[in-house]
Amino acid sequence: MNKLAILTRDCAGINATIRSIVRTATDQHIEVVGVRKGYDGLIDGDFMPLDRRSVSGIINRGGTMLKTARSQRFFTESAQQQAVHQLNTHHIEGLIVVGGNGSLTGAHLLASTYHIPVVGIPATIDNDISGVDLTIGADTAVNVALDALDKIRDTATSLERIFIVEVMGRSCGYLALQVALAGGCEEVLVPEQDMDIDRMCTEITQANKRGKVSWIVIVAEGRAKGQDIANIITSRTGLETRVAVIGHIQRGGRPTARDRIMAARLGNYAVHVLNEGQTDCCVAMYNNELITVPLEQAIQPKSIDVQSYYALIKLLT
Ligand code: F6P
Repeated sequence: MNKLAILTRDCAGINATIRSIVRTATDQHIEVVGVRKGYDGLIDGDFMPLDRRSVSGIINRGGTMLKTARSQRFFTESAQQQAVHQLNTHHIEGLIVVGGNGSLTGAHLLASTYHIPVVGIPATIDNDISGVDLTIGADTAVNVALDALDKIRDTATSLERIFIVEVMGRSCGYLALQVALAGGCEEVLVPEQDMDIDRMCTEITQANKRGKVSWIVIVAEGRAKGQDIANIITSRTGLETRVAVIGHIQRGGRPTARDRIMAARLGNYAVHVLNEGQTDCCVAMYNNELITVPLEQAIQPKSIDVQSYYALIKLLT
């Protein structure tokens, strides 16, 4: 392979991934270009050359140096054909897509329908990629949310309040479960499990009668709005609630050591896999081993063992 392109979404650890890809490829005498602004940039041929020096000093930076976009245009066949045309015109022989479910769905389309050699690297705070232990960016997001949660707990305890903390994660409850367990929270509501609000409110009322005065309830955005849950709890228990929506803060920030190490290993592995001729797959860690997963499988809904998490969260509070 003589030339490859990198296209990314944004989350912590993606810059470190770009650095690993560029330096591995350069070592293999493969020319690298970055696609600016995601799939929109692919359609427009918005490419920038990347060499070893151009990725200096980015290992600790959040976001993506390539910028990104949620492309609506890429859903149309004419835009997809235009993107393929751009790759051919610029003599790009392979593409590495670094991102979450949407980005990897686009990668699968390019590989399966247009026969472009494509390898994906799962990177999203949602950790919703099937067959993969952990996506790049998820560990940082959990730690960022946890930092916020520890601060919220100070006020929850001091003012004897119930706090409802809404976290991101799209339709996956992973982030919420991790934050609830690591943060010592009393309750967690996730999309994968029907919430039993009645039971939760009864438990809160009974525990309040026994003298318990503060709670932290984590709500995954894919389950409900934090404010709606707060309204229900207040109306059924008569207790005061406050809501904190952590939001996009979770997607930014300095990547943790774990995310940087995954970025280094997966970026390096992706170049080798692509150069060896594998396509329509993503690289990943599974049981701490480097593996490849067919993209068609990776983009299917991920199953999480919610019951085990939930049982431990309840046991420990
Ligand atoms: O997929 C990552 C994610 O941060 C989700 O957790 C969230 O639902 C979504 O993206 C937010 O998207 P946007 O940045 O387009 O508002």
